[in-house]
Amino acid sequence: MLFDHELAWKDPSIYREIYANSIASPEKFWEYHCSKLFPEQVFNASFNCLDRNVKKNPNKTAIVWYGDEYCERREITYIKLLEMTQKIASELIRRGIRKGDSVTICMPMIPESIAAMLACCRVGAVHNVVFSGFSSAALSERIFRSSSKVVITVTTSSRGGKIIPLLKNVLNAINDMNVEVLLADYVDDFSLDERAICYADMKYNDTMFTLYTSGSTKEPKRIFHTCGGYQLYSAMTFKYIFDIKEDDVHFCTSDIGWITGHSYITYAPLFFGLKLVIFSGTPMYPNGGRYWEIIDDEKVTILYSAPTAIRCLASLGDEQLNRYNLSSLRVLGCVGEPMNESAWQWYFENIGKKRCPIMDTWWQTETGGIILAPLHNIEYQKPCFASKPFFGIIPGIENDELIIKNKNWPGLSSNFSKNDGEIYHTGDKAMIDNDGDFRILGRIDDVVNICGHRLGTSEVESVVNTLGEIEESAAIGIPHRIKGQVLCIFVTTTTDLTDEQKKSVTEEISSRIRQDIGAIAKPDRVVFIHELPKTRSGKIKRNILKAIGESKGVISYNGKDLDSVINPACIKDIEKSIKYAIRV
Ligand code: WT7
Repeated sequence: MLFDHELAWKDPSIYREIYANSIASPEKFWEYHCSKLFPEQVFNASFNCLDRNVKKNPNKTAIVWYGDEYCERREITYIKLLEMTQKIASELIRRGIRKGDSVTICMPMIPESIAAMLACCRVGAVHNVVFSGFSSAALSERIFRSSSKVVITVTTSSRGGKIIPLLKNVLNAINDMNVEVLLADYVDDFSLDERAICYADMKYNDTMFTLYTSGSTKEPKRIFHTCGGYQLYSAMTFKYIFDIKEDDVHFCTSDIGWITGHSYITYAPLFFGLKLVIFSGTPMYPNGGRYWEIIDDEKVTILYSAPTAIRCLASLGDEQLNRYNLSSLRVLGCVGEPMNESAWQWYFENIGKKRCPIMDTWWQTETGGIILAPLHNIEYQKPCFASKPFFGIIPGIENDELIIKNKNWPGLSSNFSKNDGEIYHTGDKAMIDNDGDFRILGRIDDVVNICGHRLGTSEVESVVNTLGEIEESAAIGIPHRIKGQVLCIFVTTTTDLTDEQKKSVTEEISSRIRQDIGAIAKPDRVVFIHELPKTRSGKIKRNILKAIGESKGVISYNGKDLDSVINPACIKDIEKSIKYAIRV
């Protein structure tokens, strides 16, 4: 069998052969790989990431951490990471946490956060990581809805020169809930409970973690992943798509608050015993050379980043960049939102020096790991194409939407039934070219993507609608050069407002969103209109608002849509009003 062939993701004919095998006999394919990757059939992630690697090479560096300021750097070996994990696990055990209990983690990008995730796995607790940039109201909702008994956090964190009072946010969030706080700042002082030396016996189908993400509903969705399927799929995709080697130095710039930070910062890289680099600052602070300096200093071989960061860094010019040597890089990756051609070319030429393939990887919180990625082969690179399905995945297109025609692959969240023959709808718009390569074109549903952060427009609208002055609202994403998309909110008000009043309502909207969701959902502009375009049955025609928003006032939607609007005259008003949109 060719399943573990080195050239699996490089040589198109080998890729095709393995892919065909994986589709012809999926069970055999996944079972074979499962037995190779988990020879002892142990599905506790803490064992797989730590104990196994400590046995092989205890003093290998697991994590190199870079802080927000220049002078901050720490190195954590595998044995040290195991010790930190066991100590946090001890504290969880002392607080009564057992297999199956839910624990929320709200932490910045520091080694303790990774230890906290692994500590939950160690005792079999289900971690629920909440991005540390969410507001305390959003955090509160996620702690409550996940029935967490403990929240792990740190006193403060700093990002881009700003101090974030995490403990204060957490205390606000738990208010009078019966939840204990565990401060991971003091991990070195924790004493080891011998129960944390062992690890919980986790079965293939036991829940490993949950993560909230945004969909078309008012509330965020809680996504569940299981130990066996998730680890198998994230490890396999990582191994093949990034063509990893034992001595790779992996730098993924995501955050543990997102699925990328679970799969490709924590679980897959540590599964293979790699050295990983994490960075708790921003690419621009104190200057735009941070990534390049880290890559040069650590001799990073794999850089996995996001289009927003790439576009932002590209816009700075090459002065900072030229001060550093990036020749250690071997593979580049990006994820989170559609790339654009100029950013792709800049990444390929100026960062990869035309030597490194760009893995434009398409996937979702729900899929656990990468679904589409280009072949790891310079000659087959197509700018902005996520290209080929991973083994075992059968993608297709239905009414412009990317769909997955099978559900029998291990990464798929256990929220979905794995019955084959049922289709998985992705919510993304895509096209396929004559070579069978896929290109993703953005969302087709009511989800926007701001700087790679997924946000449901109805979540935003339900916050805006709580304001007394607002009658109704509709939020849409409009294109932005660096951020990909920004939020534009159309509102109707209960009474006519003066320009002054509109300004103050706009400020109120913005601060309410910041309070209830967080700064990532801050709108770019608010448009005051008299009537929203609606169908006879009362459904808001967001596609019309989007067409108007995208062409900055010039109508480009087709006539058909217009027919279904009860009062087509309202469109003229909207087109006029968008010119007077109030910038936040
Ligand atoms: C949505 C999923 C997967 C980890 C990060 C985001 C968009 C993701 C790409 C890509 C174009 C992409 C999609 C998808 N997206 N990767 N390579 N090209 N769009 O995870 O928060 O679950 O968001 O991100 O719209 O549906 P997520």
